[in-house]
Amino acid sequence: MKVLVATQKPFAPVAVEGIREIVEKAGYEFALLEKYPGEAELAAAAADADALIVRSDKVTAAVLEAAPKLRIVVRAGAGYDNLDLAACSARGVVAMNTPGQNSNAVAELAIAMMIFMARGQFTPSTGSEISGKTLGVQAFGNVGRLVARKAEALGMKVLATDPFLTPGQIREGGAEPVESVEELYARSNFVSVHIPATPQTVGSIGRELIGRMPKNAVLVNTARKEVIDEAGLAEVLEQRPDLKYVTDVAPDGYEALREKFGLRIFATPKKMGAQTAEANINAGLAAARQIVAFFRDGDEKYRLNR
Ligand code: 3PG
Repeated sequence: MKVLVATQKPFAPVAVEGIREIVEKAGYEFALLEKYPGEAELAAAAADADALIVRSDKVTAAVLEAAPKLRIVVRAGAGYDNLDLAACSARGVVAMNTPGQNSNAVAELAIAMMIFMARGQFTPSTGSEISGKTLGVQAFGNVGRLVARKAEALGMKVLATDPFLTPGQIREGGAEPVESVEELYARSNFVSVHIPATPQTVGSIGRELIGRMPKNAVLVNTARKEVIDEAGLAEVLEQRPDLKYVTDVAPDGYEALREKFGLRIFATPKKMGAQTAEANINAGLAAARQIVAFFRDGDEKYRLNR
């Protein structure tokens, strides 16, 4: 039984060693493919793999086609828009994620980004404080809840929306529920985005929504690039010189936007929300354990496809 870890953006070495230990202790073979150029290399490496652990690596129909022995693929992380679930189902491959395991790292980055923008990207100009301001959390899942708790501890008032939760559930999680996403944007000095990229959410945050934000507001995106309507974002930044955008997922034409909007926009050079040793260990080891539990006991907890 061969378990392949394929990560274009490698896990911390300590996490790789932890995964190797779990896999080998279970009596399976461990294989590692890191920093590979693209689909062809992943397909070649997966040719004799029974199980696959990935991060944001794209597991396409072509990769699955090239891996006839594959029975399970685990996305070590939360968002699974990189897995072709229909193709997995068609080939009888079980797909899983490891929800919650890297959430704290992403939540810490969202908080850091708010302060970074409030303080003029750490330039000596006069900034502002986040204490006393209102944060709107868009989607109150594992990351959103952690951001809310941390923000409250920093003195912020926290509002939240989530289409899958009742107002009572949001209140239990420590935030004030609001009626709509529109209201969230209209009332929040900072909005932190935590929605997944799905056909319903792609391009859903644009000029109309961002334009509702109060003066000097900051939009924080540690979710997915695709959920932003980037043309609408550029338009509203142009129309409203008080608004700011900070993101862990660079928009198209970021250099030009940076030139135009200066310190009002910032994007990390590479997606780094989950890039901590702790998150790598939590998500990577969870993925390895889920694979062992699947082969040993038929455990399908966290299965994403049917
Ligand atoms: C996730 O969905 O878990 C995060 O976006 C992390 O992605 P990464 O593993 O590619 O850093």
